[in-house]
Amino acid sequence: MEVVSKVALIFVATICLAHDERKDWSLEGVVLRTEKVVCDINPRHGNIKCTTKTKSRNVTHVNMNLTLSHKVETVTYNIKTFYQFSNNEYRPMLIDSTMDYCKNQKGIEHSPLHAAFKKTLITLTNIYEACPFLPGKVYYIKDWNFVASDLPSLVPAGRYVLKAQFFVEHNEFLLTFAIYFRVENYGILDLNVG
Ligand SMILES: *[C@@H]1O[C@H](CO)[C@@H](O)[C@H](O)[C@H]1NC(C)=O
Ligand SMILES: *[C@@H]1O[C@H](CO)[C@@H](O)[C@H](O)[C@H]1NC(C)=O
Repeated sequence: MEVVSKVALIFVATICLAHDERKDWSLEGVVLRTEKVVCDINPRHGNIKCTTKTKSRNVTHVNMNLTLSHKVETVTYNIKTFYQFSNNEYRPMLIDSTMDYCKNQKGIEHSPLHAAFKKTLITLTNIYEACPFLPGKVYYIKDWNFVASDLPSLVPAGRYVLKAQFFVEHNEFLLTFAIYFRVENYGILDLNVG
């Protein structure tokens, strides 16, 4: 990738982060398409299943069932987005945020990103306000359509992965939830990097 376009991308990313207010940008013409969801769990802790169901060109339902094999009281998580460059390599971009999940439930820690997700997801899942996580209970996401307004700011067109990784005590890996998606901005902001 050219140095110039790399700089342009970082510049745009910085602007996006500086305007971390959903109202600041227009959704006109921005389409987000979920391509796939990949889930993975540490088998010591339980099992997980994720599926996607395409409903129409711009609507894909994401479903997840998670069952834990024991009580989990401490959960931290990291949300990170990766952008696919022209050589097909995904590199970190825009979002990299680590939170204490259980503290966040009580509003002690707060970020616009998590607030945005919470707003959309809250009616479609029982994982919010779930700490501590109990064994045997099914934690689910039901028919979640991930849309552009779930993102904290306008992002350049292209392919992305949003990866959420969860950890239990002592930073032991619990699970990964990764959404692969494409953003089409219809010329509003298309860097065509590379
Ligand atoms: C999907 O596209 C249709 C037609 O363009 C539009 O009316 C609808 O609001 C879109 N839905 C979402 C979730 O973006
Ligand atoms: C989750 O469990 C429900 C109820 O058993 C089932 O209907 C649904 O298909 C499951 N979803 C996934 C993604 O496994």
